[in-house]
Amino acid sequence: MAKIKTVFYCQSCGTQSSTWLGKCPSCNEWNTFVEEVIQRNDNDKQSGLSNFERASKPISISEINLSDEPRVSSYNNELDRVLGGGIVPGSVVLIGGEPGIGKSTLMLQVALNMKGSKILYITGEESEQQIKMRAERIGMHNKECFILTETNTQNIFQQIEQLKPAVIVVDSIQTLHTQVIESSAGSISQIRECASELQRFSKLTNVPVFLIGHITKEGTLAGPKILEHMVDTVLQFEGDRNHGYRILRSVKNRFGSTSELGIFEMQSTGLREVSNPSEILLSQRDENLSGIAIAAMVEGLRPMLVETQALVSSTAYSTPQRSATGFDLRRLGMLLAVLEKRCGFRLGAKDVFLNIAGGLKVDDPAIDLAVVCAVLSSSENIAIDAKTCLAAEVGLSGEIRPVTRIEQRISEAEKLGFEQIIISSYNMKGLDIKSKSIILKPVKKIEDVFDLLFG
Ligand code: TYD
Ligand code: MG
Repeated sequence: MAKIKTVFYCQSCGTQSSTWLGKCPSCNEWNTFVEEVIQRNDNDKQSGLSNFERASKPISISEINLSDEPRVSSYNNELDRVLGGGIVPGSVVLIGGEPGIGKSTLMLQVALNMKGSKILYITGEESEQQIKMRAERIGMHNKECFILTETNTQNIFQQIEQLKPAVIVVDSIQTLHTQVIESSAGSISQIRECASELQRFSKLTNVPVFLIGHITKEGTLAGPKILEHMVDTVLQFEGDRNHGYRILRSVKNRFGSTSELGIFEMQSTGLREVSNPSEILLSQRDENLSGIAIAAMVEGLRPMLVETQALVSSTAYSTPQRSATGFDLRRLGMLLAVLEKRCGFRLGAKDVFLNIAGGLKVDDPAIDLAVVCAVLSSSENIAIDAKTCLAAEVGLSGEIRPVTRIEQRISEAEKLGFEQIIISSYNMKGLDIKSKSIILKPVKKIEDVFDLLFG
């Protein structure tokens, strides 16, 4: 009989220890060690993987044929884009995101849309009826999409062997359990073992596997970080639940760039692919309103124009309020300090609220100038011309700094019908101005921008 063995696992990073520890030596978290029973059976047949096993031999790198492994399209342009051009056979893709963000919807939609290949959608979260209801809602049908409500990996591999699907979706990795290990589903050791079984299976059979993973309150993937190390690609599905827009971001990708971005809109009939993001990120308005500035930003490799909105009002309290949605609050504080200190705008007695339209979270520093201008516009109560956009970083001394990919930003703004774009003078070097119908307004300091827009 196999010996019962218990091991302590850090629930935050997955570090293993034979004794209980108060502080994890690896991630420095306190009180995260939990004892888990693991009973490893020496018999590897138990895992159910032995049927797929084949011995591999060393092969010269020059003999490995790349064209043997073409990418498979998921028939979803946004997903294909984030994956780096389609699904790679034999790859394991982890999709993380908060509950209710639409992970199950996205994968079911992909499964229903991939006509011509057999898809197995394994769920431990919902019943067949619930899945069917969702499929009805999405309004797609695919005879080749099979649903399996099962959580035991041994049974799953048995079904896979019979069905021979071309793509497998697991919803979610936290609900699976393997009988090789004797601890409860969702525990670190179970997640790790199940993911490793699926990964081995995928490598042995060349069948791509999509794993859906839950996310903790802190925003990291629930379960161990190790999960991220084991899979080939980690995608993050994010967005504001109150807004319709969802962003699929690649966090790790062994087969492509991590700067790609997919945008979807959650509708009553499922997720719609958004191929022109600027359309949704610019709100429709008939008249010019103060407090609005348009930033020409680049997310990943995609240029898009985003509306930043600011509201500046006199404060009723002794400490003025600062609030930012979709933008780093500390960076807003810094920009306000720059305005106050270097340019003499009195904002200390004002409340400042900032919002990025569409529920987008922006890291691109090129949005700085738009934030500053939106604040100034609201504070002065003068609207910025709706056909003007901005792309520049603001430095601590109020200087307007150049940003990357300026050509791309300008072309996007031009394409969307903007008439002028305000950029840093340092970005003008090497720009071909003549071929552009949009007017470029180079600026060096915040004061220049102020004169240009409100002077
Ligand atoms: P779901 O895909 O179950 O999220 P997750 O698997 O990430 O937890 O569903 C997300 C939400 O989307 C749910 O609150 C209902 C909503 N929804 C729509 O708005 N339209 C639709 O067509 C579907 C299927 C869901
Ligand atoms: Mg779900």
